[in-house]
Formats: sequence, C-alpha cells, structure tokens
Amino acid sequence: MTTTLIDVRDVTKSFATDGGEKTVLSDITLSIREGEIVALLGRSGSGKSTLLRCIAGLISPTKGTVSFRGQVLNGANPGTALVFQSFALLPWLTVLENVELGLEAKGIRPGVRRQRALHAIDQIGLDGFESAYPKELSGGMRQRVGFARALVVEPDVLLMDEPFSALDVLTSENLRGELVRMWGDGTLPTRTALIVTHNIEEAIQLADRVIVLDTNPGRIKAELTVDLPQPRDRRAPAFEALVDEVYGILTGQQAAARPAGPSGSYAVSAEATGIEVPLPAVSTGELGGLVELLAERGGTEGLAEIADELRYEIDDLLPVVDAAELLKLARPQGTELRITEQGRRYAAADLLRAKEQFATLAMEAAPLVRRIVHDLRHTPSGVLSIDDVVGQLRSTFYGTDDARKQLDTAIEWGRFGELFEFDADTGRLLLPTHPHPEQGGAS
Ligand SMILES: Nc1ncnc2c1ncn2[C@@H]1O[C@H](COP(=O)(O)OP(=O)(O)O)[C@@H](O)[C@H]1O
Ligand SMILES: [Mg+2]
Repeated sequence: MTTTLIDVRDVTKSFATDGGEKTVLSDITLSIREGEIVALLGRSGSGKSTLLRCIAGLISPTKGTVSFRGQVLNGANPGTALVFQSFALLPWLTVLENVELGLEAKGIRPGVRRQRALHAIDQIGLDGFESAYPKELSGGMRQRVGFARALVVEPDVLLMDEPFSALDVLTSENLRGELVRMWGDGTLPTRTALIVTHNIEEAIQLADRVIVLDTNPGRIKAELTVDLPQPRDRRAPAFEALVDEVYGILTGQQAAARPAGPSGSYAVSAEATGIEVPLPAVSTGELGGLVELLAERGGTEGLAEIADELRYEIDDLLPVVDAAELLKLARPQGTELRITEQGRRYAAADLLRAKEQFATLAMEAAPLVRRIVHDLRHTPSGVLSIDDVVGQLRSTFYGTDDARKQLDTAIEWGRFGELFEFDADTGRLLLPTHPHPEQGGAS
C-alpha cells in the first residue's frame, strides 16, 4: 500500500460575480498517492488552476476539504511547492537569490540555504547562471529557475500549473524530456507530482494517471491510467490510442452537456429564453474551414488528426467542434468528427448560398442570435444598443466579460448570415437593409 499524500474530498468552489455566484468546481474528489505523477487535463476555464490553488492551500474550498497526509488543510499546504506558467521570478534578484527565496520562507539557515540552492540549480541544468538576472535568461531558462525554486524545498508533492505552455514548442519539448529523464533516474528529490495542462499529449507523455475535467462547472469527467513505459514514444499506436480516447471523452462530454438542438428539442424552463445556451467563441471563418477540411477528407476525420493538421490545441479545436455540432454541420463520434448532410451542402455552397444556409442554422440553433433578431423585429425603433443586450445577458447568466464575448460571437454570426447589421461607432444593432426573404417569421 502506498501512502496517500493528498486527499481532495467533495470540493466545490464558487466565486461571487456581478450577477450572483459562479460555481467553478463541483464535487471534486481525488487523491494523489506517493510516487505517482497525475495530470489534470481540461479546457480553459474548467477550473484547473482553481483546483490547484485549493490543493496548495492558497484558497479554501467553498465546500469540502483538502487534506495532506490525513490532516485537513487550514492555510498553505506544507507538503507542496508550485511551478507557475508565468515563472513568477523576482526581477531584481539573481537566479541564486530567486531559488533561495523558497528556503528563506522555511526558516533555513543562510549557509545551508546557499548550498541547497546551488545544488538545485546544478540539478536543473542552470549551472553557470547563478548570478544572472531573470531578464538575461531565455524563457526556457527562466522556467528552469521556476522548477529549481520549487524543488529546492524538497516538497512531497510538486504542483505545476501549465509549466510549459508559455514556452515555444522546442523549448517545452526539451524541458519536458529532461523532466521525464530526471524523474526516471531519481535525480529529482520529489517523485510525486500534479501537473495541470490543456495539452493532451503532454498529459499522456508525463502522467501515470490523467484526470479529465469537464467545464461549467468543473467536474471530474473521466480518469485514465497510462501504463506505458518511459520515455514514451508519441508515435506508438498505444500512445495515439490514448490521445484519441481523451479527444473522445472531451467532445463526448460536450455533446452530453449541451442541451441545444433545433426547434426546441431541449427542455426550456418557464422564463428561459435559451440564451443561457452558450455560443462557442468561434468565427464563421474557422467553422467554414473545419467543415471544408472534413469534406475534403471524405466526411470523417479523427479529432487528433484534425488538431495535428491545424496545429490546434484542445482550447482551439474543441470550441470549433462545439460550434459545428451546435449548428448541425458535423457530429463527433467516438474519436472522430463526421460531417452531416447539412455540412456537406455547406462545404459545397457558394458564398451566397452558404450565408443563407448559415442564417437558417443560426436561427435554429443559436438562441442568442434568434433572440437579437426577434427583439429587433419587435422594437419600434428597429435598433438595439449592445450595452442593453450585455446588461440583459449579464443579469441572466454571465458576468460582464462573458456576456461581451457571447455577444461578439452572436454579432459575427448574425452579420455573416445577414440577419442583422452592427454599427460599431454607435454600438447599435439593426435589421439588415435587404433581409433574406426566407428568414420571414422564424423566431
Ligand atoms: N478569483 C476569482 N473570482 C471569480 N472568478 C474566478 C476567480 N478565479 C477563477 N475564476 C473563474 O473560474 C473559472 C475557472 O478558472 P481557472 O481555474 O483559472 O480555469 P483553468 O485554469 O482551467 O483555465 C473561470 O471562469 C474564471 O473566470
Ligand atoms: Mg489555468
């Protein structure tokens, strides 16, 4: 039996927003045992950083508990150290001083401090840079300092929040590879780690176990065990099969979570307007590109292959897949994305026909677009101020930023479908001068 180091039990975390309260994490239960490397994978906004901060004890859960070695936390977690995406180095301190900082906080004697910091710097490949300042270093070297600073305290559990995502592809590849090697040969003082990432391949390359988080609110959607030997070959069929599986989980969850369908096939509560069904923040150009790519590939393509081909990460790809699904242009099936009949027509249409088809689909499936058209038609002035729309959206469901993003997407979609026009100077929406005749009474 291995020791459980971290135990997260029924953790829910909500934040106050201007409209009320937003639940970011819901009923999260997980544990991290000694010696294992766990990846927490999810889309942007799924609550990964929030969960990591709860585990580090930097914030406390609204409900539930986090324990370290059986002790419920009340403040900072004594067994963890964090590596941030943004390095978070102090610019006026040298590499050595930045690394020593962590030990100072632990009350370790200056002489010992220096010795341990030098050792950590050496281990992480920063030898010779002790007296350099952060601004003299490349991104990769700065993140090495970030690692050294966390590892020097010899934490029981190393917590990492997207530690490679601010680095270019080659540098992150290099640093990840070294980390795997150091874990393997026992160079690192810490064997247990939790790494937050939105990169599927990174999760599968590093982790023994991958926990997949759902979005809105963040919940555990699935957990996969990766028992491939290290170092792992990304081109190995077993590796690729796991990548495919995770894509399937991530898109499957969206399909299940999204109640939208055309002509009211989703349950609508008494005063619901449908605008609480969020629009993926995707442009009509991206959407068209995806549908065309599918059409070129004979109608079906693996999600991992699409991401590879477009050099998209999941935060880029999944919203486009969601939008294509919402508008019934394509449908995820297991690990693949399949074009629909609508989608085939859309890919084959000339611009004018595509715009008309898009208008019909958006009216059917994008409640916010439908709502704007409806309101424009029923407002005596024939214009709507976007500030008013943002105000409504904000109080209905979203905070101001999210409301603004929703509206931006709806405006782009509505304009493309020539359902309405937008005057950016006055911030007003108005009905088009030449509406599509077939867009008559739909609302
Ligand atoms: N202090 C906070 N106050 C209000 N909302 C927050 C706060 N911190 C995070 N959030 C919200 O919680 C959600 C999840 O954020 P985060 O944990 O950073 O997600 P991730 O790391 O998966 O991208 C986001 O919608 C974010 O806006
Ligand atoms: Mg984050």
